[in-house]
Amino acid sequence: MSARAAVLAGLGGYLPPRTVTNEELSRRFDTSDEWIRTRTGVERRHVADPGVSTGDLAVEAGHRALKSAGGGQGAVDMLIVATATPDQPVPATAPDVAARLGLGTAAAFDVQAGCSGFLYGIATASAALTAGHATRVLLIGAEVFSTVLNPGDRTTAVIFGDGAGAVVLRAGTADEPGALLAFDLGADGTGKDLITIPGGGARQRSTGRPPQPDAGYIHMRGQETFAEAVRRMGQSSQAVLDRVGWSADEVDHVVGHQANLRILRTLAVHLGVDQERVVSHIQEAGNTSSASIPLALADAGSRGRFRTGDRLLLTAFGAGLTWGSAALTWPGLTPE
Ligand code: COA
Repeated sequence: MSARAAVLAGLGGYLPPRTVTNEELSRRFDTSDEWIRTRTGVERRHVADPGVSTGDLAVEAGHRALKSAGGGQGAVDMLIVATATPDQPVPATAPDVAARLGLGTAAAFDVQAGCSGFLYGIATASAALTAGHATRVLLIGAEVFSTVLNPGDRTTAVIFGDGAGAVVLRAGTADEPGALLAFDLGADGTGKDLITIPGGGARQRSTGRPPQPDAGYIHMRGQETFAEAVRRMGQSSQAVLDRVGWSADEVDHVVGHQANLRILRTLAVHLGVDQERVVSHIQEAGNTSSASIPLALADAGSRGRFRTGDRLLLTAFGAGLTWGSAALTWPGLTPE
């Protein structure tokens, strides 16, 4: 009998309707459409309206993933929200999202692993399903990064965007299309200063001093982050390929964290995967952190890019430092 595995059963994405183009940003910052396109691949990003929070986007994406999975909301017994921009420090964003989705008393909690949150979430969900702690899990990656962007920092302003993506996972077996077959997760806290939002936590409050004016904004050391992203996603992807027993040639699609198109292209070179197998959604949405991989999956899936049984490699890198990768086959579902 085939081994137990989590199986992808539903997929949905939601981008807030308002877009900000590179042209618009070049009127606010000393930058240009040409610089942003060539250095990052981003053409536009979606931005939540004032008053719209991470939980609001998560509910939209959650609805869509449940619809894609054929409804049956009562059967979800665990909700995980992966986010680095939660609605508030306490409580977690997930219980409110669960209540708004009508999930009853399903277990609900947040995962915070920077831009690797979706990979950490999918590994956690998979563990719960294969251990028998849950039979159906809704995992949502959701972010409103526009709320932590320094209005004076062009580097982060051009990259990040808002959005949410969600998957429904069910308990199944490794021989089914859609099965998650292998994972790799890792972290290195010695690199914690590369990407930070320093204010708002116990570290800052414990000093007894008021926070610096920019403490609530994201700070990123771009070039070092770029190099670490390529290195860590490369190593993690290779670890998953070794675990699942696929060669680079056998990978049909690489769905990497959408941080920078040049990172994805360099990663493909390091792995020895053809560039046309790299899935990119960054043109439309920028870097949506925990939401970027499910959004890229939903976009490519709805365009008919994947065939049932195709081999997918997911890989992400983010603040922490954290990284993670997963191997799965495509189930042939219709994303919402
Ligand atoms: N527009 C125009 N020029 C810009 C700019 C912008 N938005 N941002 C930076 N520059 C300038 C710099 O000031 C620098 O100018 P200088 O040479 O005169 O000093 C020049 O462009 C090169 O800067 P650099 O930082 O080397 O740019 P880069 O090619 O590394 O691109 C990032 C910057 C942020 C796009 C890139 O480093 C990156 O994508 N890093 C990884 C981001 C990431 O993955 N983050 C999330 C991880 S979860």
